[in-house]
Amino acid sequence: MLDRIRSRFRRKPSGKTLSPDNIPQHVAIIMDGNGRWAKSRGLPRVAGHHSGMKAVKRITMAADRLGIKYLTLYAFSTENWKRPKSEVDFLMKLPQEFLAIELEELIANNVQVRMMGYKEELPPHTLQAVETAMERTAGNTGLVLNFALNYGSRKEMMDTVRQLCDEAAKGQLEPDKLTEADFESRLLSGGMPDPDLLIRTSGELRISNFMMWQLAYSELWFTEVYWPEFSEEHFLEAVSEYQRRARRYGGL
Ligand code: IPE
Ligand code: IPE
Ligand code: MG
Repeated sequence: MLDRIRSRFRRKPSGKTLSPDNIPQHVAIIMDGNGRWAKSRGLPRVAGHHSGMKAVKRITMAADRLGIKYLTLYAFSTENWKRPKSEVDFLMKLPQEFLAIELEELIANNVQVRMMGYKEELPPHTLQAVETAMERTAGNTGLVLNFALNYGSRKEMMDTVRQLCDEAAKGQLEPDKLTEADFESRLLSGGMPDPDLLIRTSGELRISNFMMWQLAYSELWFTEVYWPEFSEEHFLEAVSEYQRRARRYGGL
């Protein structure tokens, strides 16, 4: 009985049972399962993407309340272009729609919007919405809401290698003296700390080309819950589990 009361208390979305001294600085989320969520309700896949936007808002606010500094959300991968054009077109309209509704509140909450990904292939309306949000929030000092949009880890690392080779060829750096920090600073995530916690929804147990360098020592947390149903309570459960982990980084 007591246990049941305790566990209910632990799951309360108040964050009260979390230790304030051990809040992850950077949480990254692979927001997966929109299509299956829609299918399970007899809806078209895009209805799942639309509903997923509400989860983005919900979790952004929850992260902000917890005092998390960086929230990286995998919104579209470099491989997602393989999907039917109608679905891709729909997904490319979402940043615009999301920001039209939420930008003022994000600004009011001191949130800084960033994008981590390749801008070149994005349709102009998508890019413009994201760039406007980035410009308008550039001076904000609260939560960094980092959208991984047209992001792929292999491309990111290959581009970094190319850039380093180019700098070496120009005599700007010596290959022998290359450090991990040199590599890291040229990644799209340059300047951000590595994710402390990675969450993936929908029951898939894979990384899907997401931040493969940066996740080297992240704590991984998976849930069967589809992204549109991912609640603040689930998020707090993930952070609570994170706080119970012992991070060793190869040491003792
Ligand atoms: C995640 O949901 C959103 C994107 C990848 C853009 P999915 O669209 O992958 O949904 P499932 O995995 O097919 O259910
Ligand atoms: C990963 O999900 C990409 C995003 C969440 C944006 P996918 O649904 O594309 O990944 P796979 O295909 O199941 O590995
Ligand atoms: Mg998926």
